[in-house]
Amino acid sequence: MKEEDCLLKFEIQGGEFLDSGESSVVIKDYLKKIGIPHPFIRRVLIATYEAEMNVVAHAERGTLCFMIAEKTVVIRVQDKGPGIPDVDLAMQKGYSTATQEVRQMGFGAGMGLPNMKQNSDTLIINTEVGTGTEVIMEFTL
Ligand SMILES: Nc1ncnc2c1ncn2[C@@H]1O[C@H](COP(=O)(O)OP(=O)(O)OP(=O)(O)O)[C@@H](O)[C@H]1O
Ligand SMILES: [Mg+2]
Repeated sequence: MKEEDCLLKFEIQGGEFLDSGESSVVIKDYLKKIGIPHPFIRRVLIATYEAEMNVVAHAERGTLCFMIAEKTVVIRVQDKGPGIPDVDLAMQKGYSTATQEVRQMGFGAGMGLPNMKQNSDTLIINTEVGTGTEVIMEFTL
């Protein structure tokens, strides 16, 4: 997966709740336009939205890259942020470190990562505490 393989690329700003969720909307329109079946689009959409919102809620900033290779959609999100100290714990339903401020925006149920896992075919999380996190999700048609 090289940088130039990104069909669509988005910048994500931490803490920007109001203008967030853009990438999933644009990716949805793109997949619709090329005739991808609705149930597949739905999976990509849910997982992409959760991945984007995790940058908004937990990191400083990041980028989201959307690519298609053969029959596989790949979403890669890289952020600069605190990283995830215990990924197994973070993957558990209901686990959240979201601040009061983030909860007031309607996030922090601890369901994002479980939803990403459920809706993707492959979920890879590379993270380094104090540096940031990379999430790679694959969806096969
Ligand atoms: N990109 C990230 N950077 C740092 N920590 C993260 C990141 N993504 C997830 N986490 C950690 O993993 C926890 C669980 O993430 P998850 O998306 O499941 O829940 P949430 O974001 O807290 O709430 P929800 O997604 O339901 O609004 C987060 O509370 C946070 O501690
Ligand atoms: Mg989340």
